Amino acid sequence: MPEINKLKRAVFPGSFDPITNGHLDIIKRSLPLFDEIIVAVLNNPEKQPMFSVEERCSMIKAVLSNIESENCRLLVDSFSGLTVDFARKVKANAILRGIRAISDYEYELTMALMNRKLAPEIETVFLMAAVEYSYVSSRLVKQVFTLGGCIKGLVPELIESKMKEKLSNASFDSLKT
Ligand code: PNS
Repeated sequence: MPEINKLKRAVFPGSFDPITNGHLDIIKRSLPLFDEIIVAVLNNPEKQPMFSVEERCSMIKAVLSNIESENCRLLVDSFSGLTVDFARKVKANAILRGIRAISDYEYELTMALMNRKLAPEIETVFLMAAVEYSYVSSRLVKQVFTLGGCIKGLVPELIESKMKEKLSNASFDSLKT
């Protein structure tokens, strides 16, 4: 007999350096699909991020607190290593990812297939990005911002102000040069 009332828990993994309105759009549109979504920030020692994992988690928590999610619990966590290991640890049945353009497809497909090979019981669920965010990436947002361009509407105001703070912080040199 099939299990009924099984908790549908998704992990939304990513770098989130920083979280953008594109990410938030994916999260909001996923609320009706899951009982719980864990936004999982990858701790990747190979990358030199703008924000530490702790900073990213607390920024994500702050912006998620503005989202009404009566029937879906939104959580934030960080992880190192494989996404599927984290997903198994938290007993998630899905990995959530957004696809913006055809250029994302190949990367996302190989990742989803590798994740399925590693953990066949976990499905990757893709949502197409909203058209208005289809060109928005954390990388481009950081680049435009550090070169003095306007990023209004691409990230929440809180994130923009954290980016301003970070840019004025002398210790963060890599994005200033
Ligand atoms: O926001 P990003 O950088 O596109 O997210 C990529 C992420 C974190 C989902 C991906 O790099 C990842 O899952 N890394 C963990 C390592 C892993 O599980 N690798 C095997 C999947 S191919």
